[in-house]
Amino acid sequence: MDLDQLAALRTPEGSAALDAAARVAGGDPLTAAAALRSAGLPAGLASAALTQAELRRRAVGKFGPAAARMFLTRPGLEQATRGVVAARRADRLRAAGVRTLADLGCGLGTDALAAARAGIRVYGVEADPVTAAMAAANAEATGLAELFTVECGDATAFDVGRVDGVFCDPARRRAGTGRRIFDPNAYSPPWDFVVGLAERVPYTVVKVAPGIDHALVPAGAEAEWVSVDGDLVEAALWCGELARVPRRATVLRGRAGLPADAPGVAAEASGRPTGPDGCHQLTGSGVTEAAVGPPRRFLYDPDPAVVRAHLVAELADVLGATLADPSIAYLYADAPTPTPFARCLEVTDVLPFSLKRLRSLLRERQVGRVEILKRGSALEPEKLRRDLRLAGDEPASLVLTRVAGAPTVLVCRPVG
Ligand SMILES: C[S@@+](CC[C@H](N)C(=O)[O-])C[C@H]1O[C@@H](n2cnc3c(N)ncnc32)[C@H](O)[C@@H]1O
Repeated sequence: MDLDQLAALRTPEGSAALDAAARVAGGDPLTAAAALRSAGLPAGLASAALTQAELRRRAVGKFGPAAARMFLTRPGLEQATRGVVAARRADRLRAAGVRTLADLGCGLGTDALAAARAGIRVYGVEADPVTAAMAAANAEATGLAELFTVECGDATAFDVGRVDGVFCDPARRRAGTGRRIFDPNAYSPPWDFVVGLAERVPYTVVKVAPGIDHALVPAGAEAEWVSVDGDLVEAALWCGELARVPRRATVLRGRAGLPADAPGVAAEASGRPTGPDGCHQLTGSGVTEAAVGPPRRFLYDPDPAVVRAHLVAELADVLGATLADPSIAYLYADAPTPTPFARCLEVTDVLPFSLKRLRSLLRERQVGRVEILKRGSALEPEKLRRDLRLAGDEPASLVLTRVAGAPTVLVCRPVG
């Protein structure tokens, strides 16, 4: 996609082409292209419209119904924040008092649009001309052009004195190859610039990879890890006035859409879960260690946001639970307390790991279907499944782990 193609798609003829492409997208691409050409569309316009239609279909999981109006590039979509995450972040910025925001490296504008939707005036800066033009087109397509404007340029040159807040989601993929960048010093804009923003702007938020090393979290910043439907999707550093606690785990459930009226941030929690609206937050220091004891009747497998935020001890406190190994994030308790922060299983058997013993126990129970979870075990679940040579109709959950350092398998069943 280039600027001319984007301009063509934004004419009335282009808009009709996009509508036609949406009707035929999703099936065989050759048949779809032939259908558009036989409807009289020029080949170039048909191809650009079809690409957009395919990207919009793919974007529904991230943006919900709003995807149908957006202009997208493949790399832009891959790097874009999920709508539900952007909406919560925007609400939190607005609730903190941010009224003007710079989005430095705004990409296709997902975060900027969410902030604009929350009533914040957003100035986007984007280095790539096509992406910048698409972000502007997205502002218009969503009726937010008065609140979100985009300039094409280098984010490091933006005068942050013009705004009271800044958001930066640096590129973590190499332009051209799309390969992931793991070293923050290779991010664009560069890491030094990104973390230095906090010293220049009182309300600074930086989106980072969920694998970020805790040692890179700037002193005094709040580091938040976010999961959606159990998938760890990102981390964010909330700096300056925005930092409330050292560590936060935010667990979002089943709302892939980008509702215009996304609900506000759940009340602040201090080590306690909150959130009646599909958003649950656990906070804490990130340095507390949970007590260790023997395995107990109920096992909790914490959400990855809780684990990455180093809040397993805080969750243990909420659940009255303990670890069975100081280095493994499974928790054990005597009661099945419902929690959005972990999956709960009832432990029926605890065995030192032995293939022979496990096989004979599962045969005895007529277990024919197993799900296999593991932490702290080098075993390959699929190889184990084959080696077990299961026969029977009963289901079971197997947890491969260590108990006080010893390789152990727990036979479990899900708690409703
Ligand atoms: C991770 S993407 C942003 C995605 C965006 N938050 C979203 O959800 O749609 C980072 C963007 O920063 C842009 N970028 C990288 N370095 C930049 C710089 N120095 N100035 C402006 N933009 C830059 C890249 O072109 C890319 O589009």
